[in-house]
Amino acid sequence: MTTAFVTGSSGLIGSEVCSYLSRNGYAVHGLDNNQRAVFFGPQGDTRWNQARLAREIPGYVHHEVDIRDRGPVIRLIQEIRPGLIVHAAAQPSHDRAAAVPFDDFDTNAVGTLNLLEAARQWCPEAPFVHMSTNKVYGDRPNTIPLLELETRWDYADPAFAQGIPESFPIDQSLHSLFGASKVAADVLVQEYGRYFGMATCCLRGGCLTGPNHSGVELHGFLSYLVKCNLEGREYRIFGYKGKQVRDNIHSLDVARFIHEFAKSPRSGEVYNLGGGKANSCSILEAFRLVESLTGKRQVFTLVDQNRIGDHICYYSDLRKMRSHYPRWDITVSLGDTVEQIVEAWQTRARA
Ligand SMILES: NC(=O)c1ccc[n+]([C@@H]2O[C@H](COP(=O)([O-])OP(=O)(O)OC[C@H]3O[C@@H](n4cnc5c(N)ncnc54)[C@H](O)[C@@H]3O)[C@@H](O)[C@H]2O)c1
Repeated sequence: MTTAFVTGSSGLIGSEVCSYLSRNGYAVHGLDNNQRAVFFGPQGDTRWNQARLAREIPGYVHHEVDIRDRGPVIRLIQEIRPGLIVHAAAQPSHDRAAAVPFDDFDTNAVGTLNLLEAARQWCPEAPFVHMSTNKVYGDRPNTIPLLELETRWDYADPAFAQGIPESFPIDQSLHSLFGASKVAADVLVQEYGRYFGMATCCLRGGCLTGPNHSGVELHGFLSYLVKCNLEGREYRIFGYKGKQVRDNIHSLDVARFIHEFAKSPRSGEVYNLGGGKANSCSILEAFRLVESLTGKRQVFTLVDQNRIGDHICYYSDLRKMRSHYPRWDITVSLGDTVEQIVEAWQTRARA
């Protein structure tokens, strides 16, 4: 039985990966110290999800370790010698990073280096999958000419009709400190592939979402938007008239890709991983979708100022993923994803 070691295991992606790999025959070790509650306060607490994994995954082992602590991280990898590493622990918010620059860089960049080096020393054959982000492209996607449609922005340049490809430049644009720390991690992960020959890959996520997100205003857009709708709370839209477009991928489809990569790993790869154009929506369109499911009108205000460096329109070109892993594709539609998020918040409110 292969052992998978998953960091950020109590978060959205980590928890989905733990469950999926367990169902597919892996022994699973998770690492998480609930740092999300430190970054975002009690609303970001992930202990409920950690408890769920302990209940649902046979033989699940949880490690309460901070990825910034180099010694403990290296000793843990030495002890477990995993056959697969999935790195999903992070300070994940673009906007939060400026308030916690050291925590952000130490977690996202240095934490990733700690894991890579531990893997190189103790399990260099293990595929190493890193959750990167589309924020590595900075705000350069905003330089693509756009069309303004009734409820969304779209690319006017036919070269991007399928979305943003992995060849898009990552530097000389505005990233936020989060984007910068994630660039450092992304390039390190590529380097451990290219320089040391390890089976590493970076998944540059669009909006990763699903029922197990502890969505907060600064991170987890769909999850937070549904929560606001259900609680009758006001949602604040920051700039771009609410027509800003995100591509949404269910965490299950992220886990499915990671499993495909682990079965047939490559070295130093980069993939743009999002819902693609078919699963994209603007904030205004997301309101309509959620309203159609809950029957509740969304209360919102429009703040003129956009979030610094925020993308106006972003959807991922999924062609490289599909060509390298033809058994993988998006299986959960945007409508089904939002329906699951609505049900999950309703269940958590009753608990
Ligand atoms: N959710 C998205 O929309 C999105 C988009 C693009 C990229 N990503 C990336 O995917 C990854 C996972 O995101 P997510 O949405 O699951 O985030 P999440 O916040 O739900 O999960 C991250 C987990 O990591 C843990 N963690 C944070 N710092 C830690 C530390 N120092 N030591 C140990 N554990 C720590 C947190 O407690 C949390 O449970 C991140 O790398 C993120 O940048 C997410």
